Amino acid sequence: MLRKSKLKDIFEKTAKEIKNADSVSVLDNIRFQCLGRKKGLITSVLRNLKNLSIKEKREIGPLIQKIQKELKKLFDEKEKELSKKTEKNISDITLPAQKIQAGHFHPLAKVEKEIKEIFSSMSFSVVEGPEIETEYNNFDALNIPPNHPARDMWDTFWLKPTNSKEQIINNKNRKLLLRTHTSPVQVRYMQTHKPPFQIIAPGRAFRYEATDAFHETNFYQVEGLMVGEKISLANLKFIIEEFLKKFFDDPKMEFRFVPSYFPFVEPGIQVDIRMEKLSVGHKLSVGHKKSDWLEIMGAGMVHPNVFKAVGYDSLKWQGFAFGMGLDRLAMLKYKISDIRLFHSGDLRFINQI
Ligand code: PHE
Repeated sequence: MLRKSKLKDIFEKTAKEIKNADSVSVLDNIRFQCLGRKKGLITSVLRNLKNLSIKEKREIGPLIQKIQKELKKLFDEKEKELSKKTEKNISDITLPAQKIQAGHFHPLAKVEKEIKEIFSSMSFSVVEGPEIETEYNNFDALNIPPNHPARDMWDTFWLKPTNSKEQIINNKNRKLLLRTHTSPVQVRYMQTHKPPFQIIAPGRAFRYEATDAFHETNFYQVEGLMVGEKISLANLKFIIEEFLKKFFDDPKMEFRFVPSYFPFVEPGIQVDIRMEKLSVGHKLSVGHKKSDWLEIMGAGMVHPNVFKAVGYDSLKWQGFAFGMGLDRLAMLKYKISDIRLFHSGDLRFINQI
C-alpha cells in the first residue's frame, strides 16, 4: 500500500520534472506518466482507493486530491510559460527575407556583354587579339611607319627585348609593346581571313600617359571592322546609329560625324554624342556642360595602305572601321564621373550596378 511518504516522493519528483521540462511535448509526456487515464501514477492510486480501509481512505484521500490539484496547477503554469517561449521563437513571416549575397558582373564586363549582344544581333562576329603586340601590327601595318609623327598620338609602353639577337635577326619591326589600341586586331584578322566579313574586337589597350577622370593607362576599347565590295560611310552611319539607340535605349539618340584624322582610315571621322540626350541628372564632373558633345569613338573608311599591308586588293575591297572607348560608354550609361573608379576595387562602387 502506498504510504504518505511515497506519495510525497512522487509529487516532488514530478514537480521537479515539470520545472525542468523544456518543451510542450516533454511536458505532455510527464503529464501522461502521472495523470494519464490508464497508466498514470496518480490515477492508479486513486483507482485503488476503494481497496483501503476507512481510516486509510480518510488519510490518503484528501492528500492525493491535494497533490492532484497542485500538479495540475504546475502543469498549467509550465504550459503557459513554454508556449510563450515558442511564440517568441516563431519568426515573423511578414519580414523581408535575408538577401542572398551572390557575385555579379563588374560594370565594364556588363557593358562589354551588352555591346557584344548588340553587334551579334547585327551579324557581327566577336574576335580577340593579344594585349602584347608587335610594333608592326600596332603601327606599321596600320599605315603608321617608324618616325611618322602620328606615332605621337599613342604614348606607348614598349617592352624590353628578351632576346635582342633574335630581334636583330628578324628585325622586321619585331619590337614588342602593350597595344595602344585594339586596331591591330584588324590586321591580325585580315591576315588570316578573306572578306566579306564584319567583326568586333573588344579588349584592353594601354597608354603611357597621365591619368585623370577621363584617362587611364589601362582602358578598354571595342574595335569594329566591316569589309566587303560595296561598303560605304552610309553603312557605318547606319550601324553606329543602330548601336547607339540600342545601347542607350533611346530611339532619338543624337550623334554627329566630325572630320578627324587617323592614319589607317580615309576619310577619318570621330563620332560625338549629345550629352543633353542622356538621361536627366547625368553629371560628368570634369569640363562637360549639359549640352556638350562628347567624343565616343574614332572611325572611318579603311585606308588602301592597310589593305595592301594585309595583302588585299584595295581596288576590289572597301571597308569601314571604328574604335570606341568602352570605359567611356560605361561612364555615360551608368553616370560614372571618374574612369579611375573602375579599377579602384571599391566594392561600394561595384555593388551599385
Ligand atoms: N584606334 C583608334 C584610337 O584608338 C580609334 C579608331 C579605330 C579610329 C578605327 C578609326 C578607326 O584612337
